[in-house]
Amino acid sequence: MAPWAPSQLQRRVWDKRVDSWDHEGVPGLDKVVAAIVSAAEAAPGMSAVDLGCGSGQVSIPLAERGVQVTAVDVSPQMVQRLQDRVAGSEAEQAMTGVVCAIEDFTRPRASVDLVVSNYALHHLRDRDKQAVVRAAVDWLRPGGKLVVGDMMFGRGATARDRAIIGSKVVALARRGPGGWWRVAKNAVRYLLRVQERPCSMETWVRYFEEAGLTSVAATSVIAEAAVVAGVRP
Ligand SMILES: C[S@@+](CC[C@H](N)C(=O)[O-])C[C@H]1O[C@@H](n2cnc3c(N)ncnc32)[C@H](O)[C@@H]1O
Repeated sequence: MAPWAPSQLQRRVWDKRVDSWDHEGVPGLDKVVAAIVSAAEAAPGMSAVDLGCGSGQVSIPLAERGVQVTAVDVSPQMVQRLQDRVAGSEAEQAMTGVVCAIEDFTRPRASVDLVVSNYALHHLRDRDKQAVVRAAVDWLRPGGKLVVGDMMFGRGATARDRAIIGSKVVALARRGPGGWWRVAKNAVRYLLRVQERPCSMETWVRYFEEAGLTSVAATSVIAEAAVVAGVRP
């Protein structure tokens, strides 16, 4: 893997952000996690893949419900933190941590019941997001589900986009000079689509439907984030 590949940039970024993500995350992340776990309809004995698992915000609740989870992240530090968090618990038996870029990860055809992801896929280029959705459909058994929670907004074409971007700017600006610096940094990242590449809920629904998923449902959970779920026929 070339060191300048987008996933390797993410590895370097997230290896340094394990503590800050664990302690701060984003406001309302717990609601998005709860919406994903609810949409997943997890049951004991199921198998799941969590793409961009971080330190286990979604993987751990699934494992606690008796699901066998393959937790995938490009950051070795994140996977280590996940393993430390479950060490000695019942969830440890149900968890396999894998250090791998989402773009390179694969599973045998029709071998899993659930593919989930939270706040990770917006880091991928749009063509890679689409490829991951198509790949997930291939890994799912008939009746299996893909559930994606993430920041879902575009670059300002709609009133909803502008309201979300405006509220993020205000929240950061309130933090003073450190926040102003982050507004500037994030503006460059969102506009040039470097590191941060969210797309709208409508675009995600289209990716799901084009990949052949059915019963596709999109739910806005907090201002910036939504959950999209679909079933493999
Ligand atoms: C914002 S954190 C979200 C973590 C967790 N899913 C949660 O709900 O809190 C994004 C995670 O995605 C991972 N990530 C970003 N790009 C990735 C890629 N291309 N392949 C694998 N993991 C990636 C990062 O290492 C990080 O752990």
